[in-house]
Amino acid sequence: MWQAAIEDAILKVKANIIKHPGKLPHITEGQCYEWGDNDDWIEGFHIGMMWLANEYGQDPFYKEAAESYLANFKDRLDRHVALDHHDIGFLYSLSAVAQWKITGSEEARAVALSAADTLVARWRPKAGIIQAWGKEGDPENGGRIIIDCLLNLPLLFWAYEQTGEKRYYKIAYEHALKSQKFLVRGDASSYHTFYFDPENGHALRGGTHQGYQDGSTWTRGQAWGIYGFALAYRYTKNASFLDTSRRMAHYFIEHLPEDHVAYWDFDVPVDSATPRDSSASAITACGLLELLELIGENDPDRNVFEAALQNSMESLVKNYATTDLPDAEGLLKHGSYHVRGDRAPDDYMIWGDYYYLEALVRMEKGIKGYWYE
Ligand code: GLY
Repeated sequence: MWQAAIEDAILKVKANIIKHPGKLPHITEGQCYEWGDNDDWIEGFHIGMMWLANEYGQDPFYKEAAESYLANFKDRLDRHVALDHHDIGFLYSLSAVAQWKITGSEEARAVALSAADTLVARWRPKAGIIQAWGKEGDPENGGRIIIDCLLNLPLLFWAYEQTGEKRYYKIAYEHALKSQKFLVRGDASSYHTFYFDPENGHALRGGTHQGYQDGSTWTRGQAWGIYGFALAYRYTKNASFLDTSRRMAHYFIEHLPEDHVAYWDFDVPVDSATPRDSSASAITACGLLELLELIGENDPDRNVFEAALQNSMESLVKNYATTDLPDAEGLLKHGSYHVRGDRAPDDYMIWGDYYYLEALVRMEKGIKGYWYE
């Protein structure tokens, strides 16, 4: 079952490479990615899928395609194009770090380390956070974190392992602790974002950007938390991160609808028109795979997590994958980007595609993503 889904997905990755040489996907508003420059937070996912396809089939076509983008990613960094945000980890873990891990390219390693420095420059020592969005001193966002940042931290942990420079580790670790304390609520649901006073780090309030309302649980945010805290545990061995990931996973699983694929927010009133976010379920599948590696063989959560993984991946493959649409550019239908803001509320999401493929190849062949060694 997984193999047929992977082969269909990889064919679509190939078709996109051939149809849009040198371009990168933007968020779609019509079941068709817009292809353009490297100037959003999502471009790494296209490259990450090329590396997964390369590792799955050992076809040099994908490796060469992925390598051909390194200069583009380096140029973006050198010219600081659209990088006033923290998603440098998403962009460079799946491009430069992946390339270094697979090919040993020193050039890719240098680009990845330079990306880590760009992310470190967003550390605000007075507040003790990595600022998510905007320039330093931004009146709205100067003291703001968002849960998505947990997937940016592996770039810093990797940079520490490479260089031995403690600052990378310390910043990632402090930020993960702050995220755990303020973004995760007592019942293991989560805020999307949290505000601190940038001058002294005093906690101000939780809020949302893409969720239903400030105190609700945006499902993709919960998914970033599940995978992100599991990764934070892998790097730091702080057992409380594993516990947080585990509790967030239980919350996610317990609040799923009958077909095991999340709506866009766990607190939104549901009717027949409520959008799903298939990408939240794809990210969570990867988080569950990570948890299953980290917990013991006889762990009491193992059966629950294995069943949840199986159910959600079966549903994604049967009900959401574009296997019935050979010309589709996306791999998963019914993702949502920003429902309240009416931006791509029900469409393909390139990160949903990436995590779907990451989960599939991990289940089928043990090939992992590029978030850690
Ligand atoms: N990291 C942005 C998002 O998940 O929409």
